[in-house]
Amino acid sequence: MSHENPERDPELEARLARHLNGCRMGRSVYAFEQLGSTMEHAHALAREGAPEGTLVVTLRQNQGRGRLGRVWESPVGGAYFSLIVRPTRELSDVPQLSLLAGLSAAEAIQRSTGLYPSLRWPNDVLLNGNKVAGILVEAKASAVILGVGINVTTRTDELPDTATSLQAGGARAVDPLVLTASLCQQFQAWYDVWTAEGFASIREALRPWMGHFGQPVHISAGSQQFEGTASDVDENGRLMVRLDSGLIRTFDVGEVTLLR
Ligand code: BTN
Repeated sequence: MSHENPERDPELEARLARHLNGCRMGRSVYAFEQLGSTMEHAHALAREGAPEGTLVVTLRQNQGRGRLGRVWESPVGGAYFSLIVRPTRELSDVPQLSLLAGLSAAEAIQRSTGLYPSLRWPNDVLLNGNKVAGILVEAKASAVILGVGINVTTRTDELPDTATSLQAGGARAVDPLVLTASLCQQFQAWYDVWTAEGFASIREALRPWMGHFGQPVHISAGSQQFEGTASDVDENGRLMVRLDSGLIRTFDVGEVTLLR
């Protein structure tokens, strides 16, 4: 097998299991003091047949990765995990999972810290305009892996300039494992709704968190650039933007920057 074979940390696993309190998303936990990337480890477990809800957690990563091939700085102080899911909905609905995860992250942060983060489509979690958490969704034939990184007590001088941590944003102290468990619980609830009924209620729940709705944005989609006003997510989770020309355009991929 190509993935690394580090030693699991039973003490960490027991602590997390206590916080998860029987949650199906986290029914089986693999916890490590350090990993290259929880994504690689989760993909390897999925290939071996690990069931939905298998959770891979670490206290730090030395090869953490973000969207679009970027590096995800992962020093001690963050929550880093990957969750294996095996959705039964259409393949075309799978990108909606990143919105479910973003929503769950915003809710878990609010519940655990009292702070209100905002979401930037599709799933960046922002605090005072800076990125405090990111989500990566990787779909393979074997399973879908959701990767989540949250800067909790991470020192900001160990993060990129555009990033922040919950602690730097004034959050009350929170254990990354507690936050991880809370996010898994929120995600399980939304995932059950989504599996049974589809995206409609998630769309409703997302709107109040979407800080850029009604704001002027720049969107970079592949080699194309657009400017307009972000207005909503559509019934499939695509971003709707009223372009400066007056046309409404929907995006299923793209990088959004707020223009003021
Ligand atoms: C983004 O670019 O916003 C997504 C960042 C995702 C980072 C998380 S940390 C846990 C998991 N393991 C990784 O290597 N990446 C994801």
